[in-house]
This record gives sequence, structure tokens and C-alpha cells, in this order.
Amino acid sequence: MLVAGATPLPRTISLRNGVELPAVGLGTFRAQGDEARAAVLAALRLGLRHIDTASIYKSGLCARIAVVAYASLGCGDLLSHPAVGSVAQRVGRSPAQVLLRWALQEGCAVIPKSVRPERLADWSEAALLGADWGLGPGEAAELAALEDGHKYCWDPADIA
Ligand SMILES: NC(=O)c1ccc[n+]([C@@H]2O[C@H](COP(=O)([O-])OP(=O)(O)OC[C@H]3O[C@@H](n4cnc5c(N)ncnc54)[C@H](OP(=O)(O)O)[C@@H]3O)[C@@H](O)[C@H]2O)c1
Repeated sequence: MLVAGATPLPRTISLRNGVELPAVGLGTFRAQGDEARAAVLAALRLGLRHIDTASIYKSGLCARIAVVAYASLGCGDLLSHPAVGSVAQRVGRSPAQVLLRWALQEGCAVIPKSVRPERLADWSEAALLGADWGLGPGEAAELAALEDGHKYCWDPADIA
């Protein structure tokens, strides 16, 4: 069966300054010390080359005006949302994978955060970018419909 989203997604996103930003990275918001170090090492071993380290030191669904989606997992809250579970079950992937794939198909880079290496393993480039699966228009629309104005990060309207 042909699935609309089942095309390989680009590994990088081109920035205006010529830098190629890896589309899949690791977030580190509130990760500290040895735990943060272990998570970064696990991500590097997994092959990820985009680590959002700024939040180690001081440290929206998808920030469309930027290229990187913060809080793609809704800070963990969206993982247990029934609509996410339903889509995940239909496409045979985990809730985290469908949330991240949705943002990637929207053209955003993603930097999900976890300090648990077993969770990171779910987020390899091969698992998220591959052509062996994808979200069709209906599934993508179901996930887009979760937008309810809740801000997991700051409100972009306050910054612009
Ligand atoms: N949200 C913001 O305000 C903000 C601001 C600046 C920068 N950023 C950047 O964006 C990155 C991502 O945003 P975020 O960290 O706020 O949110 P996120 O990536 O949406 O969610 C991270 C949370 O989800 C949990 N989690 C991950 N996988 C899980 C699983 N399989 N089951 C249950 N829980 C799971 C993590 O806990 P464990 O670690 O225990 O697995 C963590 O508490 C940040 O780390 C940072 O690099 C975010």
C-alpha cells in the first residue's frame, strides 16, 4: 500500500548562512551533569550530530517561523494523548515517533529531549526519516488538529 508520507525525509535543513542543520537532534532542556553527559553520549553513539547544548548551561508544538521544533513531545504530555496513540497504532510506530515524524514532514528540525538512552534509541535518523513509513494526509491532519493554543515553551507572539 502506498502511504503518502512514506518518502525519505531530508537529513538536513539548509540555513541561510549555508549551514546544513541535521533535522534530528537531541534536546537537553533541564538535563544536568552526569545525566546530561550520558544522554549526549548516547545520542552521539546513535549517530545524531545536532545537540541543543545551550539549554544545558541555562537552561510550542512546532515553531514554524524557525526551523527547529521545541517540545515536539509536548514536554512528554502528548505521548499519552489518545489521538496520538490512535495514529501510532495505525502506522505501527511509537507515539514519540509519530509526533516527531509529523514535525519533520512539516519541514522542521526536531530536538526531542530525554535523559534515558532507551528512549533515544526510538529517535534515530533511520527510524524517523526513513521511506519505509510515513503519515498520510489524514493522519497528519489528526495530529495538526491537536493544536489548541497551549504553549509548551514561550509564546512566539511575545518575541516577534
Ligand atoms: N520547552 C522549552 O521551553 C524549550 C526552551 C528552549 C529550548 N528547548 C529545546 O527543545 C528541547 C525539547 O523540548 P522539551 O525538552 O521542553 O520537551 P520535549 O522534548 O517535548 O519532551 C521532553 C520530556 O519528555 C519526556 N519523554 C521523552 N520520551 C519519553 C517517553 N518515551 N515516555 C515518557 N516521557 C518521555 C522526557 O523525560 P526523560 O528525560 O525523563 O525521558 C522529558 O521530560 C529542549 O530539551 C531544549 O533543547 C525547549
